[in-house]
Amino acid sequence: MFEKDKDITSLTTFGIPAKAALFAEYSSAKELLRISRSPEFTDNEVLHIGGGSNLLFIKDFNGLVLHSAMKGITRYDKDPHTAFVIACAGEKWTDLVDWCLAEGLAGLENLAGIPGEVGAAPVQNVGAYGAEAADVIHNVECFDTVTREIKVFTNEECRFGYRDSRFKHDWKGRYYVLRVSFRLTPSVEASNLTYGPLANLAETLGHTPSITEVAAEVVRIRASKLPDPAVTGSAGSFFKNPVVSRYLFEEEILPAHPDIPHYKVGEHMVKIPAGWLIEHCGLKGAKEGGAAVWPKQCLVIANAGGATGHDVKELADRIVSTVRKKIGVSLSPEVNYIDTSVTVTILGSGTSKGVPEVGCACKTCTSPYAKDKRMRASALVRTHGMNILIDPSPDFRAQALANGIFDIDAVLITHSHYDHVGGFDDLRPFCAKGKMPVYLKEDVNTDLHKRLDYCFREHPYPGVPAFEMNEIGDSPFFINGLKVVPISVMHGKLPILGYRIGDFAYITDAKTIPEEEMEKLEGLKTLVVNALRAREHFAHMSFHEAVEFIGKVRPEEAYLTHFNHEAGYHHVMEEMFGPRIHPAYDGLVINS
Ligand code: EPU
Repeated sequence: MFEKDKDITSLTTFGIPAKAALFAEYSSAKELLRISRSPEFTDNEVLHIGGGSNLLFIKDFNGLVLHSAMKGITRYDKDPHTAFVIACAGEKWTDLVDWCLAEGLAGLENLAGIPGEVGAAPVQNVGAYGAEAADVIHNVECFDTVTREIKVFTNEECRFGYRDSRFKHDWKGRYYVLRVSFRLTPSVEASNLTYGPLANLAETLGHTPSITEVAAEVVRIRASKLPDPAVTGSAGSFFKNPVVSRYLFEEEILPAHPDIPHYKVGEHMVKIPAGWLIEHCGLKGAKEGGAAVWPKQCLVIANAGGATGHDVKELADRIVSTVRKKIGVSLSPEVNYIDTSVTVTILGSGTSKGVPEVGCACKTCTSPYAKDKRMRASALVRTHGMNILIDPSPDFRAQALANGIFDIDAVLITHSHYDHVGGFDDLRPFCAKGKMPVYLKEDVNTDLHKRLDYCFREHPYPGVPAFEMNEIGDSPFFINGLKVVPISVMHGKLPILGYRIGDFAYITDAKTIPEEEMEKLEGLKTLVVNALRAREHFAHMSFHEAVEFIGKVRPEEAYLTHFNHEAGYHHVMEEMFGPRIHPAYDGLVINS
C-alpha cells in the first residue's frame, strides 16, 4: 500500500525535484479508510495532493504524501434546466471540462485548460476568465480524517472566496475531497462572456458563441500567455492578485501609476493584477538559478530548466520585496510552499520591564551595545510559507517595524501576563484580510475577552482588530495543516504553554516542566528557553536552572531568552554557557 522514498517530481506541475518518505494512492473511500487506520498515516505528517498544480516543494517531504486515484464522472438530470454532474477527485480537471462540453452542459467552459485535478477545484476555488468553481459547485463529498466518516458539504458551508475556501483554513488537513457535484445547465450556448477578451467573441464570430467555442478561445488565450504545461513547468499564477484599501489606492498608488489596471472589490477595496505590478517593477524575465518570471504573464514563475525549490523561493522573495519597495503593495503567494524547515526570529529577548529598564542607570541599562537592548519576549516562526507569531508583546509595533513583518497568519499565546499580550491591538493591520486565528488556553481566552472586550462586541467599533480565538489544551493541533505541539510548563504556580513546531521548541516564563511533558521535547534541533538572570527567581528559571534543563532535553542547540538587566552584557553571556548554548538577542534569526 505504501511506497518508500518516492520520487514525486512528476506529481507536481512545477517539475521541481522532490521526494516523499512515504507515498500512497487510493481508488476508493474504503481504501482511504484502511490507509487512515495505518501507523504510516497516524504517526506521520500527511500531505494530500491533487494534480500538484499549486505546490512548491522547498525540500523533500519527510512524511506521507497521499493522492486520490478515484475516477468516474456521472450525470443526473433534475429537470430540463438543471443537470448535476458528479466527478471523482482523481479525474483531471480538463477531462471533466471536455466531458461536459461533449454532453452539451454549460457552466465549466470558461474554466477550460486549467491544470490540476477535480479534488483541488473546491479547495482552491479555481477561477479564470470571469468564472470560478464556486459558481457551479453544488456540494462536496469528503472523507473526515478525524471521525473517519464521509461528510457532504453544501456550497455555502465551504465558504468560497477568491481562490479560497474553508479547505484552506480550519478544514485543512482534516477533510479529503472524494467527489464534487456540479450544478450545470443543459445548453450548448455560452452565457458568461463578461470577461474582457471574451466580450468581443460574439462580434468576431458573428453569432452567440457555443460553449465549445468559448472553451477553445479560453484555451487559445491561456496558451498565448501561460507556459505549456507539457513543455515548461510552473504552478500557474504564483501570486494572488492583491486587494488594497481604496484609500491607499486612490491617494498613493493611482497618482503615481495612472495607467494601473484595477477592479473595485465592494465599497472600500481595490484589486490590482499582480502580473502588472511585477512587470512594472522591471521584473519581466527576472531569473534566479533555473527559475524565471514568465515574460508573457509575469504572474507566473516558470521552471526554465533545472530550477530547485530554493531558486523559486528566492525569486519569489525578490519579487515580493521589490514590489513592496517600488509600489507599496504586498504580494502573497497563491502557491502552497511545502517547507518543513523552520526559521525563527527573536523579536524580543527581554523580561517584563525590558532592558534598559526605565529609570535605571546600571551598566546593562546604559550599555552602548545594540545586543543589550532587549524588548519584551516574543518570536516569529516562519515555516510552510506561514508567519506565526508567538506572543504579541507590548513592543510588538516596534518589533514588526524593525523586522519588516508585513504578514502574520496565526498567533500562539503562552500566557496572559501583560508583557506577552500587550501588543494585541497592534495586530490590527494584519486583521484586514479576515479574523486573525489565535491559539490559547481557555483561562487565557477568558482573560483576554475581559481586557479586549471591545474586539468581541456584537457591534464592534469599525476598524477594531478581529480575532478568531481557538482554545487549545495540551494535545497537538493544526494550523493550515501544520502540526503544533503545546507543552505545559509551570510559571511559578501558573500552568502556561510553550510550543513545539517541527524540531524547534519555544519555552518562555517557565520555572519547572512536569516530567510527563518532557517526551514532547525529544529529538529537538533547537530549543529557546527563558533564563532570567544568575540569581534565582520564584517564577523564572535562573541561568543555572536553564542550563540544567537544556542538559536534560539535549537539543542540538539552545538559546536563552527573557533576560532582565541583571543578566548583564550579551558578549559576556556569550562566553558563559559553552559552545551549544547562546544568549538570544533582539533580531536574532535561527534556522532550525
Ligand atoms: N498584466 C500585465 N503584465 C503581466 C500580466 C498581466 O500588465 O505580466 C495586466 C494585463 O494586461 C491585464 C491585467 O494585468 O490588464 C490582468 O491580467 P490577466 O487578464 O492575464 O489576468 P490576471 O489577473 O493576471 C488571473 C488569474 C489567472 C487566470 C486569469 C484569467 C489570479 C491570481 N490569476 O490572472 O489564473 O487565468 O486571471 O482569468 O487570479 C492560475 O490561477 O493559475 C491562473 C493562471
